[in-house]
Amino acid sequence: MSQLLSVRGGRRLEGEVTIQGAKNSVLPILAATLLARGQVALLGCPRLRGVDASIRILRHLGCDAHWEADALAVDTTALRRCEISDVLMREMRSSAIFLGAILARCGQADLSYPGGCELGPRPIDLHLAGLRDLGAEIREEGGFLHCRADRLRGREVVLRMPSVGATENLMLAACGAEGVTVISNAAREPEVVDLQNFLNACGARVSGAGSSAVSIEGGQDLHGCTYRVMPDRIAAATYLCAAASAGGDIYLRGAEEGHLSTVTAALREAGCTVTADSGGIRARLRAVGPVQTAPYPGFPTDAQAVLMAALLRSRGATVFEENIFENRYRHVDELIRMGASIRVSGRVAVVTGVERLHSAPVRCTDLRGGAALCVAALAAEGETRVSQICHIDRGYEDLARDLRALGADAVRVEETENG
Ligand code: EPZ
Repeated sequence: MSQLLSVRGGRRLEGEVTIQGAKNSVLPILAATLLARGQVALLGCPRLRGVDASIRILRHLGCDAHWEADALAVDTTALRRCEISDVLMREMRSSAIFLGAILARCGQADLSYPGGCELGPRPIDLHLAGLRDLGAEIREEGGFLHCRADRLRGREVVLRMPSVGATENLMLAACGAEGVTVISNAAREPEVVDLQNFLNACGARVSGAGSSAVSIEGGQDLHGCTYRVMPDRIAAATYLCAAASAGGDIYLRGAEEGHLSTVTAALREAGCTVTADSGGIRARLRAVGPVQTAPYPGFPTDAQAVLMAALLRSRGATVFEENIFENRYRHVDELIRMGASIRVSGRVAVVTGVERLHSAPVRCTDLRGGAALCVAALAAEGETRVSQICHIDRGYEDLARDLRALGADAVRVEETENG
């Protein structure tokens, strides 16, 4: 029996919540543990399906990974495999991140092409081109990647676009290369910086993360460490938008506003009050200027849907332009079922504020689109039942729990045959 989220809207949010560890930081860090000999303790590791999938991959490779309270203990010393089965690869879209680390550790890797996802095709051509630049031989055959790298050699690798995953994959491979690698046009996301900080805590020599040029001095012997995963900036953005949507005054314990400045700037422009030591939202919203998603430090694509949901009742119209993924407006039709006024044309969506939203049975289409439905439901009159919440569980430890901590009426319920 699947579950759904029941959200009763119309209540202001009051309260505080601790922000979970970042999904998009812990997944590459779990791949990076393959490079370290010894015990790694990841503090603040979020309990997510992607983390469970990564644990299964690490165990399949012969490593130890187990929970100790809210820390995840990993020891990859006993690694004895360098191939990942198609079943395991398909469990998590971002499992391609293991390729660079396995190549650096073993000199060979065999894994299947990761699946696409609801956001559209998720190619890894930039990952493969960069690994070939470092000396890997990669044969693509029947949906599988057969990779050999007797010797990875450091050099400059220029990314055609600042891909987050490609930057991280190449950082991990470069740790096993001879000499220095420089990744140019690298992604600048905070999660890339967190990966650098983890690697250096293990004894690596990585610098420049957060800028467009990341430098890795390969050949270091990496050891275990204890490391706290950074807070999840998109979860923090979600809860700020939830309070903007419903009105209220909330405090996000552990959130770092510096990672969210484009989101807090948009909320302030919409008439919200956001202070650095507490995420307090205290005003009805105005529409904001065009919101154009871009690689960090531009407006994060992952926050597009939740900001859109927060602006559904604002005065005026807001133009969104989604420039990262091809198909990231799938939440729009569901929001329209709740009374939203949104027009989509290609990469552009125009949101015209309405006076009222109403409850409706709605269905998650993807991770952040699902979170947006909950954000909108907080402002809608009546009970909104959100189904297919498995998508939400990929990125939030327990969205209903965190929204309740902020005063919302949100609970998980078993889905019956009539929804
Ligand atoms: C990461 O995905 C995140 N996932 C995504 O978070 C996030 O939306 C995205 O970065 C952008 O910030 C993780 O970190 C696990 P990209 P990633 O490589 O690495 C194209 C969420 O909601 N591309 O920067 O896959 C690609 O198709 C998820 O938490 C190529 O063409 O993002 C996309 O259009 C969703 N070839 C664009 O680049 C490649 O080889 C951005 O992709 C790689 C990417």
